[in-house]
Amino acid sequence: MSNVIAVVNHKGGSGKTTTAINLAAGLTRYSDVTSSCLVIDMDPHGSATSTLLGKLDGEPPARSIFDVLRRAITPQDGIASTIYDENIDILPSNPSLESMAKTQITDRLTKVVQSLSTSYGWIIIDTPPNLGVLTQNALVAADYALIPTQCSGLAVPPLHQMKELIEKIQERQNIWLEMIGVLITQKDGRTPLQKPVRKELGNVYPAADVFKTIITNNIKIEEAPAASQSIYAYDSGCLGASLYRDWIKKEFLKKHQKLEKIKVEKREAIEAGKEAIAAENAANAANAAKNTTT
Ligand SMILES: Nc1ncnc2c1ncn2[C@@H]1O[C@H](COP(=O)(O)OP(=O)(O)O)[C@@H](O)[C@H]1O
Ligand SMILES: [Mg+2]
Repeated sequence: MSNVIAVVNHKGGSGKTTTAINLAAGLTRYSDVTSSCLVIDMDPHGSATSTLLGKLDGEPPARSIFDVLRRAITPQDGIASTIYDENIDILPSNPSLESMAKTQITDRLTKVVQSLSTSYGWIIIDTPPNLGVLTQNALVAADYALIPTQCSGLAVPPLHQMKELIEKIQERQNIWLEMIGVLITQKDGRTPLQKPVRKELGNVYPAADVFKTIITNNIKIEEAPAASQSIYAYDSGCLGASLYRDWIKKEFLKKHQKLEKIKVEKREAIEAGKEAIAAENAANAANAAKNTTT
């Protein structure tokens, strides 16, 4: 079964696509779950699609997640191999996806993900810069929400709304959705984090939910997508590569493992609860039957 990660933040330019594609490439290299990975591009702008397919001319792919979501083709038929990484496939985006954003359908991606989950170790969903239907589909389908953010005065306050949406989806549509963490990106490497901003971030998410690794600004991270390469393939020795690599190996995978254990316990508790209720119902039914026969 796949591990499904939705990369979300309704603020544009917060590092979602950069993190989604470098996380995907990092997982195929450094995770021992299994090396195969699917990227689902739910952003109609299709930045992840352009990078992974090497279509930097903006020509949208003929078959896309839009066709899959409107059930014109099967999920399997929507998948394309990438030039980015031989172990990474993509369900590409298309500008028409924007029309889906005008609907109220928030659970259609879930079935798509379920039907592909035995084929990939990881499914990474990139999302658009809003809290609308496309982002909601990603969160309803995901096991984990990952929030890349800049750590500036403007970037932190919107995280309150993001948190509210995640909690609403946890309550109403996806009890298995967990926060895997907030990743601070694009920090100026020459200056320390501003204390008030750090404090404000702490008001939204506890320190345990904020990854310690901070991805600083790095020109190679910015250049790599134009070459349709991950940061590790583009320049494995650069600072950007070592920051993303360290984050994945030392924090992301460990946190994932820890949360998976908790999830197993939660499942067992739910099953035990169900069994206890079933036993109680059976006992009540037996008593009722006994009373009617006596
Ligand atoms: N650590 C980084 N260093 C330098 N540039 C970065 C870094 N992270 C992201 N960028 C650049 O910032 C811009 C916005 O990042 P992106 O991942 O596209 O954000 P989002 O998907 O949230 O809109 C892109 O041009 C990207 O190349
Ligand atoms: Mg993006």
